[in-house]
Amino acid sequence: MQHVGVPTSSTSNAEPAVISGPGLSQTSAVEFPTQILNQRHRSWVQGLPRQCDAPTQSRPLIIAVGGGKGGVGKSLLSANLAARLARMGLKVAALDLDCGGANLHTYFGMSTVPAHLGDWLVHSKTDLAGVLTPTTVDGLHIASSQRDDVWAVADSLTGKGLGDLWSGVTGLGDLGYQVVLLDLGAGTSRQTIDLFCCAHAGIVTALPEPTSVENAYLFMRTALMRLLNHSAHRLGMENEGAAIVSFLNTDQEGAPTRSYTEKLRLLYQSNPVTVGAIASVLSGRLMGIMVNQTRSQADIDIGKAMEMAAQRYFGFSAAYLGYLNYDEVAWKSLRNKRLLLLDFPQSVIVRRLSEATNVLLKHCGITVGHGTKMGLTY
Ligand SMILES: Nc1ncnc2c1ncn2[C@@H]1O[C@H](COP(=O)(O)OP(=O)(O)O)[C@@H](O)[C@H]1O
Ligand SMILES: [Mg+2]
Repeated sequence: MQHVGVPTSSTSNAEPAVISGPGLSQTSAVEFPTQILNQRHRSWVQGLPRQCDAPTQSRPLIIAVGGGKGGVGKSLLSANLAARLARMGLKVAALDLDCGGANLHTYFGMSTVPAHLGDWLVHSKTDLAGVLTPTTVDGLHIASSQRDDVWAVADSLTGKGLGDLWSGVTGLGDLGYQVVLLDLGAGTSRQTIDLFCCAHAGIVTALPEPTSVENAYLFMRTALMRLLNHSAHRLGMENEGAAIVSFLNTDQEGAPTRSYTEKLRLLYQSNPVTVGAIASVLSGRLMGIMVNQTRSQADIDIGKAMEMAAQRYFGFSAAYLGYLNYDEVAWKSLRNKRLLLLDFPQSVIVRRLSEATNVLLKHCGITVGHGTKMGLTY
């Protein structure tokens, strides 16, 4: 994996810090091991929107599920991935941030929820913990944004509101939550991309069809520009950041078309310190790719092509996490008002989900096994 010429020193002297919370067994303590990647962590912080303060040690692992297009399976994946992680013994919160089309709760068989994100973010009636609703899965709570004040919630996710959301999310670490999953809305709105940029691991979900793949690339491109922007702002290098973004988006007439990675490498040669500092955000987060509703090997292979494009063209640390086959049990479980993972645990799609979860955890530096500790190295 190339990181646009950014030095990849990974030495650290951080001490291991074990956190454990309610509902955790002896063997499911989450450990920040000594080999924690300082460099990667710094790069991650640097890519956060400015209003998001540096997180504390007890921060949870934040996973965002996005992908540009609606109806590609973000919520199905978010719900079942969150459930899978909870069934492994982790304490998980899943937030429905698709303000205009919230239906994460539907995947858990709920038609309504007692409290909504708006009660916290818009009306200040309670805090984030106060809008978390238990689900049929032990250790998994969800926060829904399903209500008629959707625009207000969406509006609240910019500027200071994003900072508030961030404080709430990182604060969940102090309540024992180890993973926070963000189920994002469709499209590349500023709110959605900023939320995606906040995650340690962002999953781009796509269907194996041209429109969806195209939107996924647009999503990655927008996230890349936004990350570089955030990084430049954090470093007080706004002008340099604007120049980099402008260079990336300009093709000289007659010159060969270059990937963003190549262009960043070119810039890096002439100005390694500035460009290296700004572009290092790319090594601070993982771009996971999921292909949903596959029906053939050719469909499955699309994920590999997307992984290569994300790495080679955009410069992300990309990983094809896996695929979910098209399966009728998806809608059957919705009709049964039961979570897919619990309703059809033996189905092929649930097996694929488990495989993808393991790949994701591996990339996040978490190993799960009998009697082993889970180490987060993000
Ligand atoms: N692998 C699959 N097989 C069959 N149907 C699926 C699959 N994944 C998702 N669906 C269906 O597609 C629809 C859209 O999924 P959803 O997760 O709500 O999309 P998004 O959150 O991206 O808008 C839902 O009706 C869901 O049940
Ligand atoms: Mg959705």
